[in-house]
Amino acid sequence: MKVSIIGGGGRVGSNAAFAMQCAGIISEMHLLDANEQMAAGEALDLLHGASVAGDQTIYAGNYDRCADSDVIVITAGLRRKPDESRLDLINRNVSLFKQILDSIKTAGLKKDAIVFVVSNPVDILTRLAIDHLKLDPNKVIGLGTQLDTARFRSLIALETGLPPTQIKALILGEHGDSMVPIWSSATAAGVSLVKLPNFGANVQQRIFERTKTSGAEAIKLKGGAGWAVGLTIAEVVHAIALNQSKVMPVSSQLTGEYGIRGTCTSLPTMINRSGVVRRYEVELWPREAASLVSGAKQLDATYAQVQK
Ligand code: 2OP
Repeated sequence: MKVSIIGGGGRVGSNAAFAMQCAGIISEMHLLDANEQMAAGEALDLLHGASVAGDQTIYAGNYDRCADSDVIVITAGLRRKPDESRLDLINRNVSLFKQILDSIKTAGLKKDAIVFVVSNPVDILTRLAIDHLKLDPNKVIGLGTQLDTARFRSLIALETGLPPTQIKALILGEHGDSMVPIWSSATAAGVSLVKLPNFGANVQQRIFERTKTSGAEAIKLKGGAGWAVGLTIAEVVHAIALNQSKVMPVSSQLTGEYGIRGTCTSLPTMINRSGVVRRYEVELWPREAASLVSGAKQLDATYAQVQK
């Protein structure tokens, strides 16, 4: 399967490419970037490792070489400043993102291609991709709270000393300030997390707050996220490549779940080679459902301001 990464010269795109190279599931990776030299450098560096990692085709190219991609990952975008919310990024990134979408449209897209948006504000840009490219909404996925969920699980493990892979805890809603921690179904090896000793509301809130600000923390410490976001991008791409029908908290356009319609936001979503198969309206505590709905309303209001 061929994956093109628009923004492949940047940290997020190249780290995602490295995660896919190490997994060896994708057969062909095409990196492109406004900074052509960086894309060429990242592709060459990855190619140097091919004799160790596996027999994949890896190269830098341009939009023309996107046309036969099965998945187009868009990570390109201006980076958020540490004190800037993702939605503040919106105007700076929307015009850039529309240029990217127009270039994709000009080059052409396979009928069954999946457009996978990572650039921020990801929920807004996922919806813009659907509208601007006039695509089947099920062929457009946003990374959404897949990364937040990964961070949340890892930070809970750090706090409790439990294995990160055994922590099952979701962040849903916006990949942004209104993201929602779903404690109602959070477990560790089947044990309800909220019933764990020394894991009361204060600890829960502290972990959630750190999860929510992890993007800004990564920017402050090292200029921006890379490794974890790369792994989570790869997990979604692999669900498509392997036709896994894997359920993940990614962003897609809702069709009435929790009374939300039209908004792109994250719910447990089944993903396979066809893209979005379905979303699950999981049982939530009333305050969790209310937070999801109010976050969606905020996203709708923001989307209405976007110069489409
Ligand atoms: C983050 O939260 C890149 O938005 C991503 O770090």
